[in-house]
Amino acid sequence: MIGVKVGDKLIALYNVAGRIYATDNVCTHAFAVLSDGWLDGAEIECPLHAGRFDVATGKGLGPPIPSDLKTYKTRVVGDEVQIAVAD
Ligand code: FES
Repeated sequence: MIGVKVGDKLIALYNVAGRIYATDNVCTHAFAVLSDGWLDGAEIECPLHAGRFDVATGKGLGPPIPSDLKTYKTRVVGDEVQIAVAD
């Protein structure tokens, strides 16, 4: 997993068994950068208070997470990962 900046958005990219997922890279609980955490299968664990999210759906997986993460569609074109960030 890596963190990238797209415009003013901080986005985390995750490689889960060869499939690339993208979410906001800032935890919804407090300010922590998720790409500094731990990826376990399709779950990202926040480095600050160990909250967990499903990286495919953005769903928060219990306390202390107050809300889900925004997710973004991705596609791989040649050597590039493209992220759909338009609202
Ligand atoms: S900042 Fe992520 S769980 Fe608290």
